[in-house]
Amino acid sequence: MIEERPADSDNLARDHRRLQSNYAEIASLAGGLAHEIRNPLSTIGLNLELLSEDLVEGDSPRERRILQKLSVVKQQCQHLDRILSDFLQFARVGSLVPRKSDLNATVHEFIEFFTPQAAERGIDISPHLAANLPAVQLDAQLWRQVLMNLSRNALQAMPNGGVLELQTYGRDSSVMLDIIDNGQGMSAETQARMFDTFFSTKPDGSGLGLPTVRKIVEAHGGTILCESEIGRGTRFSIVLPAA
Ligand SMILES: Nc1ncnc2c1ncn2[C@@H]1O[C@H](COP(=O)(O)OP(=O)(O)OP(=O)(O)O)[C@@H](O)[C@H]1O
Ligand SMILES: [Mg+2]
Repeated sequence: MIEERPADSDNLARDHRRLQSNYAEIASLAGGLAHEIRNPLSTIGLNLELLSEDLVEGDSPRERRILQKLSVVKQQCQHLDRILSDFLQFARVGSLVPRKSDLNATVHEFIEFFTPQAAERGIDISPHLAANLPAVQLDAQLWRQVLMNLSRNALQAMPNGGVLELQTYGRDSSVMLDIIDNGQGMSAETQARMFDTFFSTKPDGSGLGLPTVRKIVEAHGGTILCESEIGRGTRFSIVLPAA
């Protein structure tokens, strides 16, 4: 007689649960580790600051050399701190507090906040926000991060100034948000890897901006697409289900 074995779907469900619990454990360990590193790091940064202040009057070549090295160490501490805070931000996406929202109002609010830093770099913001846009479910705080990360990337891609377009429009039962720059654009290799965690082509990039954006968009039931051409610019299109 053939021995009765649990159905494949039972095995799959069990494996899935085990993977989920392993993932949750690793995520919480990594989050805890990032927190633990941040505290001593801030003590190191503070003491470096105090050391530099002690030396600031120093004028000998030796003191100048020490000050220069201290400044490199300080910069590296700041870089590490940014990686950790970006990482914690990335790890935190998961619990949404969505509310029925007007995407245009959110984009408007962001533009008001972002315009001064864009203007400083010679970048004009050009909004095209469609009237009568259907409402969407948004976690406003996380959504600001999406707009911030994409717009910051756009600014960094236009070192000599340019135009940042923010467009909203409805399509079928979806609401679309396009973020377009006329900056450097991306090679096919960069496009293939841009959503990988810790992938960055920038000397001080943590490479968590786009992975965080995608995680937030997908947590909202949306998708994000990208078209880019070297020397012409980049368009990110986000598709969100209408509420
Ligand atoms: N608008 C853009 N134009 C050109 N390249 C871009 C654009 N957006 C993203 N990229 C490329 O994708 C890479 C990954 O972007 P991501 O935002 O994840 O990380 P980062 O900007 O390098 O660092 P971080 O955002 O953590 O400071 C960038 O390093 C850059 O090469
Ligand atoms: Mg970025």
